[in-house]
Amino acid sequence: MSKRISLTQYLVEQQREHGTIPAQLRLLIEVVARACKRIAIAVNKGALGDVLGTAGTDNVQGEVQKKLDVISNEVLIEANEWGGHLAAMASEEMDSIHVVPNRYPQGEYMLLFDPLDGSSNIDVNISIGTIFSVLRKIGHARGISEEDFLQPGKQQAAAGYCVYGPQTTLVLTVGSGLAMFTLDRETGSWVLTDSDIRIPEDTQEFAVNMSNMRHWAPPMKRYIDECLAGKTGPRAKDFNMRWVGSMVADVHRLITRGGVFIYPWDQREPEKPGKLRLMYEANPMAFLVEQAGGAATNAKERILDLQPTKLHERVSVVLGSKNEVERVTAYHREGG
Ligand code: AHG
Ligand code: MN
Ligand code: MN
Repeated sequence: MSKRISLTQYLVEQQREHGTIPAQLRLLIEVVARACKRIAIAVNKGALGDVLGTAGTDNVQGEVQKKLDVISNEVLIEANEWGGHLAAMASEEMDSIHVVPNRYPQGEYMLLFDPLDGSSNIDVNISIGTIFSVLRKIGHARGISEEDFLQPGKQQAAAGYCVYGPQTTLVLTVGSGLAMFTLDRETGSWVLTDSDIRIPEDTQEFAVNMSNMRHWAPPMKRYIDECLAGKTGPRAKDFNMRWVGSMVADVHRLITRGGVFIYPWDQREPEKPGKLRLMYEANPMAFLVEQAGGAATNAKERILDLQPTKLHERVSVVLGSKNEVERVTAYHREGG
């Protein structure tokens, strides 16, 4: 049997060989991974743990919070507060940033997360997940504000997600490729199960919520129409469609076998750039996808180059297999 490499061993060795994971970042990643384990346990209990259903509150985006949204947010905050690796945190489920309390030392990093992605899938027992993004705090003053978080995604120090599915899987990047870990439930440890992940440049699989098609911009309709036309259409090949409804699971599929994931702009709310959130959904996924040889745009520009203007900013998302992302983006740049 080949030797099993744990998350800790992987992080220590990466630092030793490439100097990419200093102590505070290693602690941060290990703490997030431990928090994800706790969330996985809560998810697995389901009805037995009284974790299903709504919490009876709304978040800053006006969405109804599920009990697991609130629980996962609390688990991540509690786990990350005291280690001295963070200056502040931001979350989909909190209106403003959470500064590390004065009683703890302040660290060099800032953590953003979508504590529970795919909330509408919780009660129906479909894969959900946690998405996170790590930024460096710029400057050494103790004070920190929302402005400090408004850095383009290309400045991320690390990003990752955990899928709570048939397997519990953690996918991570610190800017030198991806590493995938699977949770061994018997031993409670994260075991490295893949470290050379490449997204194929071409694909015949797309993921988009087709029920909104009539509201999209013409270039987006054109792209999907051409996919639907299959072998006898301009693309001269048949396409397959998948839509889990949890970005984390849809992205995990395309990281595993290729594909393109799209959440487009929609004319019903023209001033809203998209549904997904730039800083804790699109940016970390774009970083991961690029690290695996894929591409990520907002249909016009590279996501990682976008300068955020607010914490909960939304964005259109096209990411995955490079040639498909480039095609969608080219159609939008041409305007048709
Ligand atoms: P969240 O549960 O964190 O609010 O995110 C849900 C997102 C994303 O995971 C998914 O791709 C998308 O919403 C699904 O949207 P539709 O319900 O419009 O298909
Ligand atoms: Mn989400
Ligand atoms: Mn969420």
